[in-house]
Amino acid sequence: MVESHGRRVPNKWVKTEALLGHSLLASHIPPTRSYTADNLRSMLNEHGMVVIKPVLGSGGNGVIKVQQEGSGYSYSYYARKRQYATFEALFASIGSVKKKRAYLIQKGIRLATIGGRPIDYRVKYEKTATGWIYRSMVGRLAKPGLFVTNLCRGGTMVTAAHGIRRSLSASQVASKKREMRELTVAATQVLESKFPGVNLLGYDYGIDRNGKIWIFEVNTKPQ
Ligand SMILES: Nc1ncnc2c1ncn2[C@@H]1O[C@H](COP(=O)(O)OP(=O)(O)O)[C@@H](O)[C@H]1O
Ligand SMILES: [Mg+2]
Repeated sequence: MVESHGRRVPNKWVKTEALLGHSLLASHIPPTRSYTADNLRSMLNEHGMVVIKPVLGSGGNGVIKVQQEGSGYSYSYYARKRQYATFEALFASIGSVKKKRAYLIQKGIRLATIGGRPIDYRVKYEKTATGWIYRSMVGRLAKPGLFVTNLCRGGTMVTAAHGIRRSLSASQVASKKREMRELTVAATQVLESKFPGVNLLGYDYGIDRNGKIWIFEVNTKPQ
């Protein structure tokens, strides 16, 4: 196998910031901030659900979903779910499971589901001697009981068409695939100019229950 020499940019913050500089792309990126108690509290007030993820993370590792529930809070970490009556108790508990590294907080997107399992999409885009080409576009269905769809966390791969048809509607298959391809082209232009040398990109797209497409992250040198 030929080893790819493309550039790797592991930091989720710098990639997100680069895309936020482009107005079309910015409207598809969930509001994102650094992890602090004040930001967690205000984002929970504003969005009701947020996702906390390591700035240098992959494979769904350490990703935590936090929700406001009635007058209290809950969070899901791997298959475990815990509930707390106060923000202080919630924050202390997250602090005890989190590693000592930087995290970011992102508005939680209520993904469209199949049989209650969230689905998102991976688009692989590669630079060749004659330009950028699509390698694949697939859906990833979360393992029952989990909110992350990563295949290494037990997610199931399905065709993008199957995923869109079953989680939204058959009438949206062509338009959602087209929109993901358009976002991929625009985002790749931004990332290539900001990070010259990238040549293999893996886009993680969520589609919410209203059919809106969200960019969760862009992987450089994905598996
Ligand atoms: N803002 C979000 N709202 C809802 N689910 C999310 C959000 N961000 C990530 N996820 C879920 O968590 C998974 C892992 O997050 P991602 O940002 O792709 O990090 P990783 O590098 O660990 O793959 C995603 O594939 C998706 O299923
Ligand atoms: Mg991912």
